[in-house]
Amino acid sequence: MKDSFGREINYLRISLTDRCNLRCKYCMPEDGISKFSHDEILTLEELYEIIEIFVELGINKIRFTGGEPLVRKGIVELISKVSKLHGVKDIAMTTNGILLKAYAKDLKDAGLNRVNISLDTLDEDKYRTITRGGNLHRILEGIEEAKKVGLTPIKINTVLIGGFNDDEIESLVGLTERENIDLRFIELMPIGEAASWAKENFISNNRVLEKVGNLLPVPREDISSPAVYYKLPNGKGKVGIINPISCKFCENCNRVRLTSQGRLKLCLHSDIEIDIREALNSGQDIKKLIIDSIGKKEESHHLEDGEYIKRNMNQIGG
Ligand code: GTP
Ligand code: 5AD
Ligand code: SF4
Repeated sequence: MKDSFGREINYLRISLTDRCNLRCKYCMPEDGISKFSHDEILTLEELYEIIEIFVELGINKIRFTGGEPLVRKGIVELISKVSKLHGVKDIAMTTNGILLKAYAKDLKDAGLNRVNISLDTLDEDKYRTITRGGNLHRILEGIEEAKKVGLTPIKINTVLIGGFNDDEIESLVGLTERENIDLRFIELMPIGEAASWAKENFISNNRVLEKVGNLLPVPREDISSPAVYYKLPNGKGKVGIINPISCKFCENCNRVRLTSQGRLKLCLHSDIEIDIREALNSGQDIKKLIIDSIGKKEESHHLEDGEYIKRNMNQIGG
């Protein structure tokens, strides 16, 4: 499936739920969010039906996101069915890791290939603070279990927050020396809760390169990935830098998103959404609708004009 700029669209990111078992300060308000009701979100049957159509159209990489995807009931069964679809090459998940210890084996058996885990600090108290109550040990156990069952390569996503974890850059990078884990620093985006944060909280990823002087560039393997990779001289894993705003990978963008309500989002940074669920349930030609919609995918985002999306991150899944 090609868009009107000749980009091959083969990656679908599916937000399974807007709910989450954490409340990261940059993502959600303290008292949670106005959650979508059960009948507002896609049923597992609808999800499978929509995924099947996308796969027939050429999607071969699927990522489940949230909120927190593991709080969605039936996820293991869904993955099991999706992994059997002809043409699916990569099924991944972006998770906070809280439930990973319990689910890792079942997920692997169902056909999940790998996980990206959100982890912003290695300090127990700071973890509890940023997630408003999360237990760091559970994530670390989750990572161990994911390694054990082979949900690999494991990537850790760390949102870089000035005055919070910029003093941990060296120790976080140090993880990649000892372990075959990729650690990716993501610049904080002024979206949702983070929109009102102070300027000092938004620091550039260049801080990583300044603090760790011996990082060596790694040749790009995947031109569509938002991460630029480096490595410590004796590192087992890589260190990635993701700049979701200024990075110019739009020209190689290969992805679209499906929200838990069944709306197709053509770009992370756009509010334009196409209601696939409505179309499905009113008997429209979904294939045609998807192809026509992909034809309208924008060339790039317009963040430089200060146009930020209205949805909170927990409704998009990054
Ligand atoms: P891999 O398949 O392992 O490369 O994962 P990924 O980077 O596609 O997925 P992940 O969910 O781990 O995303 C990591 C970060 O990249 C998140 O903070 C996302 O918000 C950001 N990101 C992912 N896709 C896009 C995109 O299309 N545009 C921008 N600007 N940022 C993105
Ligand atoms: N800026 C940058 N990254 C964010 N994420 C959530 N909110 C933000 C934000 N405002 C990250 C999560 C997760 C990834 C999918 O997006 O930490 O790792
Ligand atoms: Fe949950 Fe992820 Fe948002 Fe944290 S960033 S509250 S883990 S959805």
